[in-house]
Amino acid sequence: MNEQTFQKKILCIGAGYVGGPTMAMIAAKCPQYLVTIVDINAERIQAWQSDDLPIFEPGLLELVKQARGRNLVFSTEIEENIRQADIIFVSVNTPTKTFGEGAGKCADLQYWEKTARSIVKAAESDKIIIEKSTLPVRTAGAMARILNSNGKGLHFEVLSNPEFLAEGTAIADLQSPDRVLIGSRENESGRQARDQIVEIYANWVPKERIITSNVWSSELSKLVANAFLAQRISSINSISALCEKTEADVQEVAYAIGRDSRIGSCFLNASVGFGGSCFKKDILNLVYICESYGLTEVAEYWENVVKINEYQEQRFVQNILHSMFNTIAGKRIALLGFAFKADTGDTRESPAIYVTRMLLDEHAHVVISDPQALKNAKSDLRDCPDLVEYEADPYRAARHCHAIAIMTEWKEYTRLDYASIYAQMEKPAFLFDGRNILDHRELFEIGFNVYPIGKTPLTHFT
Ligand code: NAD
Ligand code: UGA
Repeated sequence: MNEQTFQKKILCIGAGYVGGPTMAMIAAKCPQYLVTIVDINAERIQAWQSDDLPIFEPGLLELVKQARGRNLVFSTEIEENIRQADIIFVSVNTPTKTFGEGAGKCADLQYWEKTARSIVKAAESDKIIIEKSTLPVRTAGAMARILNSNGKGLHFEVLSNPEFLAEGTAIADLQSPDRVLIGSRENESGRQARDQIVEIYANWVPKERIITSNVWSSELSKLVANAFLAQRISSINSISALCEKTEADVQEVAYAIGRDSRIGSCFLNASVGFGGSCFKKDILNLVYICESYGLTEVAEYWENVVKINEYQEQRFVQNILHSMFNTIAGKRIALLGFAFKADTGDTRESPAIYVTRMLLDEHAHVVISDPQALKNAKSDLRDCPDLVEYEADPYRAARHCHAIAIMTEWKEYTRLDYASIYAQMEKPAFLFDGRNILDHRELFEIGFNVYPIGKTPLTHFT
């Protein structure tokens, strides 16, 4: 690779679920740029250099292979790459703070600030710094202050370019995004930097989908987008509880309201609850920001989205317990799916974690199955090694179980031979469909007692 021939050198700090796929897409679409991704986690970088990528995402390996070795490089050499870069995307993790002021709500910005300090230390020329991580509104101000107190006379222009990809569909989302958002300062230096970032995306994203705004609107839009998406799930999940009391069917209700073009049909699938590394953390962050501005009512409004989600997870387990004659102690329950959604191995904040722990509290014996997430599941539940079994094959997982609970909407679970699964289970056999993906009438006819979300259960009990 002859580095001199590249028009620009782009660096991304943080080789995770966002940094890896977004930079692979930029590299694949823009052979004229050299794209380097660095991380402090050497094992992760090594995995990115192999065919056994550190994350499972459909289409990702093919995309990485298009550019790796041509203009896409994975490295642990952070300082040297900072020195060389013209543009630096920062995509490090911004989890919820677990200590001190704001613990449990506010974003922990320590990784973020460490990267700012690494940039200041290593840089020898002006650079554009892009916030790719999701951050509290006005973080760019703090970032600019740290960066521009460099004592070297260097100027760093800080922009916000939040990422809206969803896991499992990351490649399609990056290939054809609904929009790319770029927030910059409204002055000459901000506008010039913004134009350079627009130019990158314009290599494959239609111009009308690249939207620009001031930097604060951009930072806040990311938090608000996630809050609105999660709010829709909590809204429909709250209605699922009412459906269960009234013989209404939540899928019929969702369909009927979703046909209203003002409401729309997306994100109205009632479920055991939303998971993932971001919804809860970003809403709690929004809540914290509102509280810190004294906007108590606004904070309470958004906090309820998270509370309904926790309520839905609890309701799911209570339903299992009450339906199974108020005791599940010693009973085997197979969880089909542990990832927080289909087509990913990611288990961060997966409802399956909370459901497993609540089932264990009731002394149930839990058997966990998932096509991609068993490694992460074992790590999530490492404190209860003797109480949980892991079994990749769903048929074996269900054998001798008293109940099955569908936790993740993996396509393969819709294609299983439930008659043969039923034959191997303890009777009466229960099935709790936490994703409403199965044919409930058919399962009932096989012999299962079926408990969907937001629908009347189909049971053989009089
Ligand atoms: P991640 O934990 O998968 O990746 C972050 C990476 O940053 C890790 O590999 C970590 O080792 C590295 N890192 C931390 N500090 C570093 C440092 N000082 N120098 C170099 N590397 C460092 O996180 P993620 O899921 O990719 O999320 C990153 C950000 O993107 C978060 O703010 C998140 O909210 C946001 N986001 C995530 C998604 C998603 O689908 N996961 C989507 C949109 C936005
Ligand atoms: C979400 C957003 O969709 C992305 O736009 C955003 O970039 C990302 O968060 C982020 O900031 O991290 P992601 O969490 O990967 O993406 O996946 P989603 O498809 O949004 O699903 C989140 C959770 O909601 C999953 O547990 C999913 O099963 C659940 N869900 C989703 C429902 O329960 N019902 C639905 O109708 C939709």
